[in-house]
Amino acid sequence: MKHQDLISQMTLEEKASFCSGADYWHFKGLDRLGLESIMVSDGPHGLRKQGAEDSVANINASRPATAFPTAVTTACSWDPDLIYEMGQALGEECLQEEVSILLGPGCNMKRSPLCGRNFEYFSEDPFLAGNIAAGYINGVQSKGVGVSFKHFAVNSQETRRMIIDAVADERTLREIFLPAFEIGVKKAQPWTVMSAYNRLNGDFCSENDWLLNKVLKKDWGHEGIVITDWGAEGDIVEGIRNGQEVEMPSSHGINEAKLVKAVQEGRLDESILDERVDRIVDIILKAQETRKKNQGYKYSIEGHNELARKIATQSMVLLKNENNMLPLSKDKKYAVVGEMAMAPRYQGAGSSAVNPTVQDNAFDALKEAGMNVEYAKGYEKSNCNTLDEKLLNEAKDLAKNSDAVIVFIGLTEKYESEGVDRKHLDLPTSHNEFVEEIAKVNENVIVVLAGGAPVLMPWLPKAKALLNSYLGGQASGHAVSDLLTGAVNPSGKLAETYPLSLEDTPCYNYYPGNPATVEHRESVYVGYRYYDTADKKVLFPFGYGLSYTTFEYSDIKLSDTKIKDTDKLTVSFKVKNTGKVDGAEVCELYVTDNESTIYRPSQELKGFKKVFLKAGEEKTVEIELEKRAFAYYNVNISDWHVESGEFTIIVASSSRDAANKLTATVEVETTQDKAIVPDYSTTAPSYYGANIQNLPDEQFKAVLGRDIPPIKRDPNLPFDINSNFEDAKDSKWGKKIYKFMVWVAGLIGNDDNVEMITNAIVQMSMRGLVNMSQGIFSEKSASGMI
Ligand code: BGC
Repeated sequence: MKHQDLISQMTLEEKASFCSGADYWHFKGLDRLGLESIMVSDGPHGLRKQGAEDSVANINASRPATAFPTAVTTACSWDPDLIYEMGQALGEECLQEEVSILLGPGCNMKRSPLCGRNFEYFSEDPFLAGNIAAGYINGVQSKGVGVSFKHFAVNSQETRRMIIDAVADERTLREIFLPAFEIGVKKAQPWTVMSAYNRLNGDFCSENDWLLNKVLKKDWGHEGIVITDWGAEGDIVEGIRNGQEVEMPSSHGINEAKLVKAVQEGRLDESILDERVDRIVDIILKAQETRKKNQGYKYSIEGHNELARKIATQSMVLLKNENNMLPLSKDKKYAVVGEMAMAPRYQGAGSSAVNPTVQDNAFDALKEAGMNVEYAKGYEKSNCNTLDEKLLNEAKDLAKNSDAVIVFIGLTEKYESEGVDRKHLDLPTSHNEFVEEIAKVNENVIVVLAGGAPVLMPWLPKAKALLNSYLGGQASGHAVSDLLTGAVNPSGKLAETYPLSLEDTPCYNYYPGNPATVEHRESVYVGYRYYDTADKKVLFPFGYGLSYTTFEYSDIKLSDTKIKDTDKLTVSFKVKNTGKVDGAEVCELYVTDNESTIYRPSQELKGFKKVFLKAGEEKTVEIELEKRAFAYYNVNISDWHVESGEFTIIVASSSRDAANKLTATVEVETTQDKAIVPDYSTTAPSYYGANIQNLPDEQFKAVLGRDIPPIKRDPNLPFDINSNFEDAKDSKWGKKIYKFMVWVAGLIGNDDNVEMITNAIVQMSMRGLVNMSQGIFSEKSASGMI
């Protein structure tokens, strides 16, 4: 133990007190031993610091801070170094506001495009997500400020997030849902990891011995602390035993008392508590040192706004550009239509909502850039269903008399939020109709799309150009203008697949699951791993994005054609900017196992590099691969394993790029000769070739290695502290309380957030209510309710 000297001076009560927050946003300190109370705040794409005067129930009450592009956007930069810069800036804002830990980044896998928090997560691919996250974490922590890497783990949905049990086999966890966290932990040692609300294979993540003690602490060597998501605490004694350090927020003495009692009664070994406190003290001391060194620190609001703009320009994705509609020309007249050109959607809703220091819009930015533009509102952003005749006609008139028309549309505030999953992939009906109507009067349509997740685009054939601005942060207007005008050459590439329909998504039949469980029957076939293996057409593939210049790939070379799995392999190739303007290209490297006994995705991303090239310039790119690039997780040996044989290395500009694709093969020989490869070809044959959308029970069971747990809570079981109002609504009194709660949510919420608030209340467990209400709703009231 690092801080034995301090710990030996603490009473049992003092030690236990460290394991619960001081209030909503602080850890406890201990004055007697010079340990200060430190502050934590959301995260992830900006600082949401609430002062003592701000009500925690009002998510929007917080100090102004730079709203950087959200995670879905920054992942499209494919540039961990750039996201390191963003992390540094976030760290500086924490220094000024005396916040010691920033609650981000979010790193859950995008299992379905419906997840309401996808805008806060990076990618459907763990390798990309983990590397971007590591850039972010290292950036923040380089300033002496910690992060909370969240939500650990398998929190890929908002529906029933506080009670749902994610059921998945170990291989799927190790290969898809955990590696992004693994990369972040190993490359950046986040000060804290936030355990997710949900259960994983039966146990709440905050009490999950396998997840916290085994995977995080033992296998990956995490040195920091685990804090619970807000209100996620269940049984604190189990939590502490199983690898958790701090429950957040405070339980006002209730849970500390339980810990003390457990130690006194011999149910919890005091040495475990000591280990937990040792780690907490370590974080407090680091935070104190930072605070001492940075009294009166001030960051540059201007500088950070400029950085937010730069990051957005490096991240937004150009998806279509026929007839070189873009970049815009100063000699043409453009109609700018759609309210989102003036009132952009630049961030998502929920705990991540930041009060921006400034906020721009694309129309003003285009004017500032000297473009000949005129604006018409076109639709009311608040009306997602129908178009206003008068506004539409004004926009059409303007469009008719312009050379081209730039149409701003997107998912509005009510479509994406923490606490609510989407039910479909549609844009607001009025926005889809708007594009169709405008296209009737001017065929030169350029669409600028905003939103934090994939949508369907029925109007796509009528758009000549399409810029996906995602959620671009407070400077998104200038970033859009920079890209449309060509001041910056687009270089973002999609970090997720855009499917052709919701029905095509791999987990369509399993998401968001049953009342009690959500089964991950699709196994490792998440995102492009499914579409590519099943050979499904998509709207836009993973890794796709255009530029105003062209690139040519050539000369792929491997450092060896035959290696052992303990050797490193260097892949080198050339990439040349063959167009007339400078630009950056994201080069992607995928690996295919040409023949395998266990089912595997047809290709997986194992390397990438973003390279800037002047017009005409050529560079040699090198990417190094190690064992993990070829390995799958072998449950027979509980380890990564390479099945000896031939692998193909693919270098390309997207997961489905044919034109630039380079390939080479390598023989890899295993050094784990005794390992037996699990063979599911007779027990679960549908997995071979990814025929996974209607997977029979027996096959899932074969891979899961145990019985499939019941999908509903047993109606004969009494309600307990983990039940919620939704569980209770089929009982006589439960129905009345449920209705009352829905009514209360209606009073609190507005049109944009009422669903989120309703879900937050009716899907919250009794345990969550006690934890989150900060003393208002007691354990006694909870048992009365139960
Ligand atoms: C969210 C976390 C957030 C925390 C504190 C929770 O509801 O899931 O992401 O950091 O609240 O606001």
